[in-house]
Amino acid sequence: MSNSSNSGSWYETLTSTPILIATAVGVSFAAIFAVSSSNKTSEQIKTQVKEVTNVASSNTDARGKAAQAGASIMSAPSTDLAPPKDDPISASSLSQYDGSDPSKPIYVAIKGRVFDVTPKAEMYGKGKGYNIFAGRDASKGLGMSSLNLEDAISDYSSLNETQMNTLNQWESFFEKRYNIVGKVVP
Ligand code: HEM
Ligand SMILES: *[C@@H]1O[C@H](CO)[C@@H](O)[C@H](O)[C@H]1NC(C)=O
Repeated sequence: MSNSSNSGSWYETLTSTPILIATAVGVSFAAIFAVSSSNKTSEQIKTQVKEVTNVASSNTDARGKAAQAGASIMSAPSTDLAPPKDDPISASSLSQYDGSDPSKPIYVAIKGRVFDVTPKAEMYGKGKGYNIFAGRDASKGLGMSSLNLEDAISDYSSLNETQMNTLNQWESFFEKRYNIVGKVVP
Protein backbone atom coordinates (compact mmCIF):
# COMPACT_ATOMS: atom_id res chain seq x y z
CA MET A 1 0.00 0.00 0.00
CA SER A 2 1.39 3.41 -0.95
CA ASN A 3 1.82 6.38 1.34
CA SER A 4 -0.71 8.39 -0.57
CA SER A 5 -3.40 5.75 -0.13
CA ASN A 6 -2.56 5.56 3.58
CA SER A 7 -3.00 9.27 4.04
CA GLY A 8 -6.12 9.00 1.91
CA SER A 9 -7.65 6.50 4.31
CA TRP A 10 -6.71 8.66 7.28
CA TYR A 11 -8.40 11.57 5.64
CA GLU A 12 -11.43 9.41 4.99
CA THR A 13 -11.54 8.20 8.60
CA LEU A 14 -11.29 11.69 10.01
CA THR A 15 -13.87 13.18 7.72
CA SER A 16 -16.27 10.24 7.45
CA THR A 17 -19.93 11.13 7.78
CA PRO A 18 -20.54 9.25 11.06
CA ILE A 19 -17.74 11.15 12.79
CA LEU A 20 -19.03 14.47 11.52
CA ILE A 21 -22.50 13.58 12.70
CA ALA A 22 -21.13 12.35 16.03
CA THR A 23 -19.50 15.73 16.46
CA ALA A 24 -22.71 17.50 15.59
CA VAL A 25 -24.74 15.21 17.83
CA GLY A 26 -22.11 15.57 20.56
CA VAL A 27 -23.19 19.14 20.97
CA SER A 28 -26.72 17.92 21.62
CA PHE A 29 -25.66 15.29 24.19
CA ALA A 30 -25.34 18.05 26.75
CA ALA A 31 -28.97 18.93 26.12
CA ILE A 32 -30.13 15.31 26.50
CA PHE A 33 -28.11 14.76 29.65
CA ALA A 34 -29.38 18.02 31.07
CA VAL A 35 -32.89 16.78 30.43
CA SER A 36 -32.35 13.28 31.81
CA SER A 37 -30.62 14.52 34.96
CA SER A 38 -33.43 16.90 35.75
CA ASN A 39 -36.89 15.65 36.68
CA LYS A 40 -38.56 15.87 33.30
CA THR A 41 -41.01 13.33 31.95
CA SER A 42 -40.26 11.06 29.01
CA GLU A 43 -42.71 13.14 26.99
CA GLN A 44 -40.54 16.17 27.53
CA ILE A 45 -37.45 14.17 26.66
CA LYS A 46 -39.17 13.07 23.45
CA THR A 47 -39.92 16.66 22.59
CA GLN A 48 -36.33 17.57 23.33
CA VAL A 49 -35.06 14.67 21.22
CA LYS A 50 -37.34 15.76 18.38
CA GLU A 51 -36.04 19.31 18.58
CA VAL A 52 -32.46 18.10 18.59
CA THR A 53 -33.22 15.68 15.77
CA ASN A 54 -34.78 18.41 13.69
CA VAL A 55 -31.70 20.53 14.12
CA ALA A 56 -29.34 17.63 13.45
CA SER A 57 -31.22 16.56 10.35
CA SER A 58 -34.56 16.72 8.66
CA ASN A 59 -34.63 13.17 7.36
CA THR A 60 -34.90 9.73 8.92
CA ASP A 61 -31.91 8.31 7.09
CA ALA A 62 -29.49 10.76 8.68
CA ARG A 63 -31.32 10.35 11.98
CA GLY A 64 -30.53 6.64 11.88
CA LYS A 65 -26.92 7.51 11.16
CA ALA A 66 -26.93 9.97 14.02
CA ALA A 67 -28.22 7.24 16.32
CA GLN A 68 -25.46 4.93 15.10
CA ALA A 69 -22.80 7.63 15.33
CA GLY A 70 -24.02 8.19 18.85
CA ALA A 71 -23.74 4.46 19.44
CA SER A 72 -20.02 4.54 18.67
CA ILE A 73 -19.38 6.91 21.55
CA MET A 74 -21.89 5.34 23.92
CA SER A 75 -21.35 2.52 26.39
CA ALA A 76 -18.64 0.02 25.51
CA PRO A 77 -19.54 -3.54 24.54
CA SER A 78 -19.83 -5.96 27.45
CA THR A 79 -16.94 -8.35 28.02
CA ASP A 80 -18.79 -10.93 30.10
CA LEU A 81 -22.02 -11.91 28.36
CA ALA A 82 -23.73 -15.17 29.30
CA PRO A 83 -24.44 -17.75 26.59
CA PRO A 84 -27.69 -16.76 24.83
CA LYS A 85 -30.82 -18.49 26.10
CA ASP A 86 -33.64 -19.78 23.97
CA ASP A 87 -36.37 -19.85 26.62
CA PRO A 88 -39.84 -19.10 25.23
CA ILE A 89 -41.33 -15.83 26.54
CA SER A 90 -44.86 -14.81 25.59
CA ALA A 91 -45.58 -11.21 24.59
CA SER A 92 -47.79 -10.78 27.66
CA SER A 93 -45.09 -12.16 29.93
CA LEU A 94 -42.57 -9.85 28.25
CA SER A 95 -44.79 -6.87 29.03
CA GLN A 96 -44.23 -7.46 32.76
CA TYR A 97 -40.58 -6.59 32.29
CA ASP A 98 -41.19 -2.98 31.26
CA GLY A 99 -39.47 -1.40 34.23
CA SER A 100 -42.64 -0.56 36.13
CA ASP A 101 -41.69 -3.03 38.88
CA PRO A 102 -38.21 -2.11 40.16
CA SER A 103 -37.75 -5.63 41.57
CA LYS A 104 -37.97 -7.21 38.10
CA PRO A 105 -35.43 -7.11 35.28
CA ILE A 106 -36.10 -4.93 32.22
CA TYR A 107 -36.32 -6.61 28.83
CA VAL A 108 -36.22 -5.25 25.29
CA ALA A 109 -36.83 -7.59 22.36
CA ILE A 110 -35.43 -7.16 18.86
CA LYS A 111 -36.56 -9.46 16.05
CA GLY A 112 -38.02 -11.79 18.66
CA ARG A 113 -34.87 -12.14 20.75
CA VAL A 114 -35.20 -10.86 24.31
CA PHE A 115 -32.35 -8.76 25.72
CA ASP A 116 -31.89 -8.02 29.42
CA VAL A 117 -31.25 -4.27 29.57
CA THR A 118 -31.49 -4.03 33.37
CA PRO A 119 -27.90 -2.67 33.57
CA LYS A 120 -29.22 0.41 31.74
CA ALA A 121 -32.29 0.96 33.91
CA GLU A 122 -31.45 4.66 33.90
CA MET A 123 -32.37 4.67 30.21
CA TYR A 124 -35.08 1.99 29.91
CA GLY A 125 -36.68 2.22 33.37
CA LYS A 126 -40.06 3.71 34.21
CA GLY A 127 -40.29 7.33 33.10
CA LYS A 128 -36.91 7.23 31.36
CA GLY A 129 -36.24 8.35 27.80
CA TYR A 130 -36.14 4.90 26.19
CA ASN A 131 -38.81 3.22 28.36
CA ILE A 132 -40.92 3.05 25.23
CA PHE A 133 -38.82 0.05 24.09
CA ALA A 134 -39.11 -1.81 27.40
CA GLY A 135 -41.35 -4.84 27.88
CA ARG A 136 -41.96 -5.35 24.20
CA ASP A 137 -40.48 -6.15 20.83
CA ALA A 138 -40.00 -2.68 19.37
CA SER A 139 -38.11 -3.70 16.22
CA LYS A 140 -40.05 -1.40 13.93
CA GLY A 141 -39.50 1.70 16.07
CA LEU A 142 -35.78 1.01 16.35
CA GLY A 143 -35.54 0.66 12.58
CA MET A 144 -37.44 3.90 12.09
CA SER A 145 -35.43 5.74 14.78
CA SER A 146 -38.82 6.49 16.26
CA LEU A 147 -39.70 7.05 19.89
CA ASN A 148 -43.45 6.97 19.17
CA LEU A 149 -45.42 4.29 20.97
CA GLU A 150 -47.37 3.33 17.85
CA ASP A 151 -44.11 2.46 16.10
CA ALA A 152 -42.81 0.33 18.98
CA ILE A 153 -44.09 -2.96 17.54
CA SER A 154 -42.57 -6.25 16.45
CA ASP A 155 -43.81 -6.25 12.85
CA TYR A 156 -40.97 -4.59 10.98
CA SER A 157 -42.07 -5.77 7.52
CA SER A 158 -42.76 -2.18 6.41
CA LEU A 159 -39.15 -1.05 6.90
CA ASN A 160 -37.25 -0.05 3.79
CA GLU A 161 -33.61 -0.93 3.15
CA THR A 162 -32.18 2.04 5.04
CA GLN A 163 -34.41 1.39 8.02
CA MET A 164 -33.53 -2.33 7.97
CA ASN A 165 -29.88 -1.32 8.17
CA THR A 166 -30.63 0.83 11.19
CA LEU A 167 -32.53 -2.03 12.84
CA ASN A 168 -29.69 -4.46 12.11
CA GLN A 169 -27.18 -2.05 13.62
CA TRP A 170 -29.25 -1.76 16.79
CA GLU A 171 -29.51 -5.55 16.88
CA SER A 172 -25.76 -5.86 16.71
CA PHE A 173 -25.35 -3.07 19.29
CA PHE A 174 -27.58 -5.00 21.71
CA GLU A 175 -25.91 -8.35 20.94
CA LYS A 176 -22.61 -6.89 22.10
CA ARG A 177 -23.97 -5.41 25.31
CA TYR A 178 -26.89 -7.36 26.72
CA ASN A 179 -27.58 -10.96 27.66
CA ILE A 180 -30.17 -12.77 25.57
CA VAL A 181 -32.63 -14.35 27.98
CA GLY A 182 -35.10 -15.92 25.58
CA LYS A 183 -37.24 -15.51 22.51
CA VAL A 184 -40.73 -14.16 22.07
CA VAL A 185 -43.31 -16.81 21.24
CA PRO A 186 -46.94 -16.28 20.15
C1 HEM B 1 -30.48 13.26 17.86
C2 HEM B 1 -31.22 12.85 18.89
C3 HEM B 1 -30.66 11.87 19.87
C4 HEM B 1 -29.65 12.04 20.73
C5 HEM B 1 -28.79 13.27 20.92
C6 HEM B 1 -29.49 10.78 21.44
C7 HEM B 1 -28.55 10.55 22.42
C8 HEM B 1 -28.28 9.34 22.98
C9 HEM B 1 -27.27 9.10 23.95
C10 HEM B 1 -26.31 10.15 24.52
C11 HEM B 1 -27.29 7.79 24.26
C12 HEM B 1 -26.36 7.05 25.20
C13 HEM B 1 -26.67 7.36 26.60
C14 HEM B 1 -25.91 6.49 27.55
O1 HEM B 1 -25.22 5.56 27.14
O2 HEM B 1 -26.00 6.77 28.76
C15 HEM B 1 -28.35 7.19 23.47
C16 HEM B 1 -28.70 5.86 23.48
C17 HEM B 1 -29.73 5.29 22.75
N1 HEM B 1 -30.55 5.94 21.88
FE1 HEM B 1 -30.52 7.91 21.49
N2 HEM B 1 -30.42 9.89 21.01
C18 HEM B 1 -31.16 10.50 20.05
C19 HEM B 1 -32.21 9.98 19.35
C20 HEM B 1 -32.63 8.66 19.43
C21 HEM B 1 -33.76 8.12 18.69
C22 HEM B 1 -34.67 8.90 17.74
C23 HEM B 1 -33.84 6.80 19.02
C24 HEM B 1 -34.87 5.86 18.48
C25 HEM B 1 -34.55 4.65 18.06
C26 HEM B 1 -32.76 6.53 19.96
C27 HEM B 1 -32.49 5.31 20.52
C28 HEM B 1 -31.47 5.05 21.39
C29 HEM B 1 -31.21 3.76 21.95
C30 HEM B 1 -31.99 2.46 21.68
C31 HEM B 1 -30.12 3.88 22.79
C32 HEM B 1 -29.55 2.69 23.50
C33 HEM B 1 -28.72 2.87 24.62
C34 HEM B 1 -28.23 1.63 25.30
O3 HEM B 1 -28.91 0.58 25.34
O4 HEM B 1 -27.11 1.73 25.80
N3 HEM B 1 -32.07 7.67 20.17
N4 HEM B 1 -28.93 8.15 22.72
C1 LIG C 1 -36.72 4.83 3.85
O1 LIG C 1 -37.74 5.57 4.49
C2 LIG C 1 -37.31 6.79 5.06
C3 LIG C 1 -38.49 7.38 5.83
O2 LIG C 1 -39.63 7.48 5.03
C4 LIG C 1 -36.77 7.71 3.98
O3 LIG C 1 -36.31 8.92 4.54
C5 LIG C 1 -35.62 7.01 3.28
O4 LIG C 1 -35.12 7.81 2.25
C6 LIG C 1 -36.08 5.66 2.74
N1 LIG C 1 -34.93 4.94 2.17
C7 LIG C 1 -35.02 4.21 1.06
C8 LIG C 1 -33.76 3.53 0.61
O5 LIG C 1 -36.07 4.07 0.44
